[in-house]
Amino acid sequence: MKTHSQTLIATIAVALLLTVAALGQEPSPGSPPRATMKAIVYHNYGSPDVLRLEEIAKPVPNDNQVLVKVRAASVNPLDWHYMEGTPYLIRIFGAGLFKPTVTRLGVDYSGTVEAVGRKVTQFKPGDEVFGGKTGAFGEYVCALADRAIVLKPAGVTFEQAASLPIAAITALQGLRDKGHVLAGQKVLINGASGGVGTFAVQIAKSFGAEVTGVCSTRNLDMVRSIGADHVIDYTKEDFTRSGQNYDVIIDNVGNHSMLECRRVLNPKGKYVLIGGGGVNDSPWIGPLASVIKGLVLAPFVSQDMGMMLADLNQKDLTALGDLIQTGKVTPVIDRLYPLRDLPAAIRYLEKGHARGKVIIMVGDKNEIPPIVGNPSASSASTIPPTLIIFAVIALVLIAPIVLALVFNRRFQQGNPGKRPYRWGYYFSMMTIVGGLILGLMLEAGSGAVIVCGLIYAVLAWFFAQRHHWAWITLTILSFNPVAWIINGIYLWKRWAEGAVATS
Ligand SMILES: NC(=O)c1ccc[n+]([C@@H]2O[C@H](COP(=O)([O-])OP(=O)(O)OC[C@H]3O[C@@H](n4cnc5c(N)ncnc54)[C@H](OP(=O)(O)O)[C@@H]3O)[C@@H](O)[C@H]2O)c1
Repeated sequence: MKTHSQTLIATIAVALLLTVAALGQEPSPGSPPRATMKAIVYHNYGSPDVLRLEEIAKPVPNDNQVLVKVRAASVNPLDWHYMEGTPYLIRIFGAGLFKPTVTRLGVDYSGTVEAVGRKVTQFKPGDEVFGGKTGAFGEYVCALADRAIVLKPAGVTFEQAASLPIAAITALQGLRDKGHVLAGQKVLINGASGGVGTFAVQIAKSFGAEVTGVCSTRNLDMVRSIGADHVIDYTKEDFTRSGQNYDVIIDNVGNHSMLECRRVLNPKGKYVLIGGGGVNDSPWIGPLASVIKGLVLAPFVSQDMGMMLADLNQKDLTALGDLIQTGKVTPVIDRLYPLRDLPAAIRYLEKGHARGKVIIMVGDKNEIPPIVGNPSASSASTIPPTLIIFAVIALVLIAPIVLALVFNRRFQQGNPGKRPYRWGYYFSMMTIVGGLILGLMLEAGSGAVIVCGLIYAVLAWFFAQRHHWAWITLTILSFNPVAWIINGIYLWKRWAEGAVATS
């Protein structure tokens, strides 16, 4: 849908330009606003070098949209994840396998409404607004009027408003909806000095909680100044060994395992994983490894261990605007960059030590800088992941199927009267792959990968020899509900057949 509407907008814009050119007219001061705008665009995944400030078609609002002239935007780790195309899983789930399908970047923005669609009643030209919409790193965004866009409260600056959407909503929903924080509870915020953390400390205080912030030495005073009752310097002390207990842990860093965090969580406590993983971490599943571990762990512990994904919505944006207007929350703004310096801003954020929010100012002077160096060089980083994805599909998905068919053929040639065993051979091989993945997930070095791979391989060998005990053991150890169900049905059918045969 997005691609179609972008194509439509681009076509309309180009048609308008051609008409003006054909008539030999220059747009006069009184003529409609120009049909192009400057925006950050990326055509390949990679480092911040892939980002270009380009002249592109200015969006045109449809009946339900609002056209906003962007005044400020803010940078989130989400932006560099999309720029890098990592974790690679996001490529499979819509970001574009080889190249980004949506070439615009940025979500958080604030600005002034320039035009509204025919059916929009909530906003009018001149309104000051803020919200979240893909493509915020540009002079204009078009947002649906009933989605994540609200009026900017008076007295809140454009920079402050732009700092809110993703980071503050994440903090609010993490504390309120996942942590169910109540007044008087003890809340620990790991990564208290970053974008999400600085909001989380203040919002937790506004809920009446006793807040402990974890940050590095240089940020201790800042975290205290925004309201933390206690601070822990992670360069000197490991909070999971502090001996203190907490009702809620909001984890923006994910640098401790959930088992370690459990040590300092009350028996009915809640652990909320917000994020983690830097630009140099494993690009495959990134912070999702912790999530998968948490899901495996969840049924066996009394605490509530989970993760969250922020949901940008009008109700929470309004609540956040109110929190700022009433002085309960004051955004911590670390640095301001002009739009053309977005690559520098992202490089800074990627280091993982931002102090509050990094803001992009989108003014009237967004000159397009000359391209230096070889622009195609940055696309080189798209090749290895592509090859790796093909290799994984071939090795993990296709090879076991082919091998299962080959083994089954051999088996049937040697045992003509016996039932085929394709699924059995396939399951044996997939469990070896599963064992290797489990070994990797334990993050205990190559020894764990070898041990897990060997255990599963030995079980798979017995299973391929049709030992039922190996089959049942592997089914249980697959940690895979689909395998549990399929093998359960298979087992039940065989038993039923056995009962008929013996009756
Ligand atoms: N689940 C969601 O919906 C959602 C939404 C938003 C963000 N996120 C994720 O949440 C994470 C945080 O986002 P953010 O915007 O706050 O990022 P950020 O602004 O880049 O935060 C970085 C902060 O992490 C701190 N930090 C680094 N290493 C630390 C450690 N070992 N212990 C404690 N603090 C440490 C840094 O403090 P020092 O400088 O003191 O080291 C810095 O202030 C990211 O992974 C992001 O992808 C998830």
